[in-house]
Amino acid sequence: MKAMEKLVNDSVVRYIGVSNYLPPLLDYARKCLSKADIVSVQNRYNIVEREAEKEILPYVQREGLTLIAWSPLAKGVVTGKYGPDNRPKADLRASDPLFMDDNIKEINSKLVPVIKEVAKYNKTPVQVALNWLIMHSNVVPIPGAKNSKQVEENAGSADWRMSEDDFTRLTKASN
Ligand SMILES: NC(=O)c1ccc[n+]([C@@H]2O[C@H](COP(=O)([O-])OP(=O)(O)OC[C@H]3O[C@@H](n4cnc5c(N)ncnc54)[C@H](OP(=O)(O)O)[C@@H]3O)[C@@H](O)[C@H]2O)c1
Repeated sequence: MKAMEKLVNDSVVRYIGVSNYLPPLLDYARKCLSKADIVSVQNRYNIVEREAEKEILPYVQREGLTLIAWSPLAKGVVTGKYGPDNRPKADLRASDPLFMDDNIKEINSKLVPVIKEVAKYNKTPVQVALNWLIMHSNVVPIPGAKNSKQVEENAGSADWRMSEDDFTRLTKASN
């Protein structure tokens, strides 16, 4: 943290961010800094995997930091394009719990249909899943993309907001 602060003081970087920290480690890291502060924490957060809501999201909202949500599309699962007979092949996702039979079946039967319904605003499931994250204050998702078409679609998640009713429906389906 001292070395990071030196980079800020020397104008090599403007800000300090960390990844996969929980509040106790974050508090400790922040205490090691004198003038600079940590501005962002990059942890996993998506409409399927919501463990960030237990500790780190309330922390960043209270302290005015930003939660950079990694794997915000649950590695593509929120699109509904994958299933037990159609898993991503030859890639790290093959062994991810998200793609295990019971999990992918449950996500596809209980959550994806609601995501698709909310996509009624002429949006796509990807845009709805990212917008659900943006509806939380202090959250910025960083979706991965394989091609420029996906980049454009993902960027289309930012300039609108779903209704509170839709947000609640999605959250309930995710619960
Ligand atoms: N800090 C950390 O520990 C950590 C850990 C993991 C990831 N990350 C970061 O988080 C970012 C994203 O994570 P991620 O790539 O694992 O997960 P993600 O954003 O949840 O999923 C990305 C995958 O979803 C599919 N996809 C993306 N846009 C799509 C679209 N518009 N339509 C249909 N499918 C789409 C693509 O795969 P297919 O087309 O092949 O399905 C893409 O590779 C990256 O910058 C990564 O470096 C950070």
